Amino acid sequence: MKAVVLGAAGGIGQPLSLLLKSNPLVTELGLYDIVNAPGVAVDLSHIATPAKVEGYLPADDGLKKVLTGADVVVIPAGIPRKPGMTRDDLFKINAGIVRDLATGIATTAPKAFVLVISNPVNSTVPIVAEVFKKHGVFDPKRLFGVCTLDVVRASTFVSEILGDRSLATSIKIPVVGGHSGVTIVPLLSQSTHPIPSSISSSTIDTVINRIQFGGDEIVKAKDGAGSATLSMAFAGAEFVGKVLRAKGGEKGIVAPTFVNLIADAEGGAKLKAELGAEVEYFSAPVELGVEGVYKINGLGTISDSEKKLIQVAVPELITNIEKGVSFVGAPK
Ligand code: NAI
Repeated sequence: MKAVVLGAAGGIGQPLSLLLKSNPLVTELGLYDIVNAPGVAVDLSHIATPAKVEGYLPADDGLKKVLTGADVVVIPAGIPRKPGMTRDDLFKINAGIVRDLATGIATTAPKAFVLVISNPVNSTVPIVAEVFKKHGVFDPKRLFGVCTLDVVRASTFVSEILGDRSLATSIKIPVVGGHSGVTIVPLLSQSTHPIPSSISSSTIDTVINRIQFGGDEIVKAKDGAGSATLSMAFAGAEFVGKVLRAKGGEKGIVAPTFVNLIADAEGGAKLKAELGAEVEYFSAPVELGVEGVYKINGLGTISDSEKKLIQVAVPELITNIEKGVSFVGAPK
């Protein structure tokens, strides 16, 4: 399968491309950026794995060339946060970048699966959808917001409070809602490794807050040099890997991802009923299939405190989604 990375020379783009070059399901890897993508491609092309790698710049129809024949397109293009910024502060610049790249995908690779990493994900995913609608090629089953880093963080931080880091690779905690601050809702009550009652509620509140705002730790530690890149590349490669396996026919793969709820009319309607709100997009555990979204799973049984977190998340999410939708509707 051909995987394409748009924004491939960046902090996320480079390690993500490296990990995709190591994925045996990737037979072709297309890299694109406004700088340096051909160099990154030549570097990766020396790695002894089968994938053929090519890199392009915007000149000479580079976007069209890289997207031709793409099965999966991953978008980490755009500016990252600096200390004091929220993901929403990135909107002004990243919205336009994502809109233009989505236009390229809609015209050259409209059947590709599109995986959006560029923040604010809660708004950039609706932007891609609206661009696709304008071109008459929108299929909600093929559009995904990448929230895997929240899930990865949940496994890491919860394994730490359980006092057993070796659990980090096996423990699974669904994280639902969206991908920013309070819209990130970890469902610790559904942890595959139950949280013992000996762990205090204040420790649990602290870990929930850390999962919601974990990105800030990195922004602060990098002190102006960007946000999560290596952990994001790890998470992104994990999600791309799942999507590729499902596209190749493997069944039963479930991953939380931010999708348009009409991608699975029945599952989406049930989820909306559970939420008690008319929300168009939501990150839920999604079963992936050959066509993309196969089934959107509901929230299941959640605790009262998790219900409260959902109540806080939904209005913010609706605002973020509306911002993305109206951006594409507005004159340039
Ligand atoms: P970066 O600045 O290191 O890299 C971004 C790359 O995008 C640069 O190489 C830049 O040249 C390229 N770019 C800019 N405009 C472009 C265009 N029009 N076409 C193609 N490429 C273009 O930033 P970094 O750290 O890689 O972050 C990228 C994005 O990912 C940011 O928006 C960041 O907020 C987001 N992010 C998302 C996460 C998630 O969980 N979904 C986690 C961490 C970051």
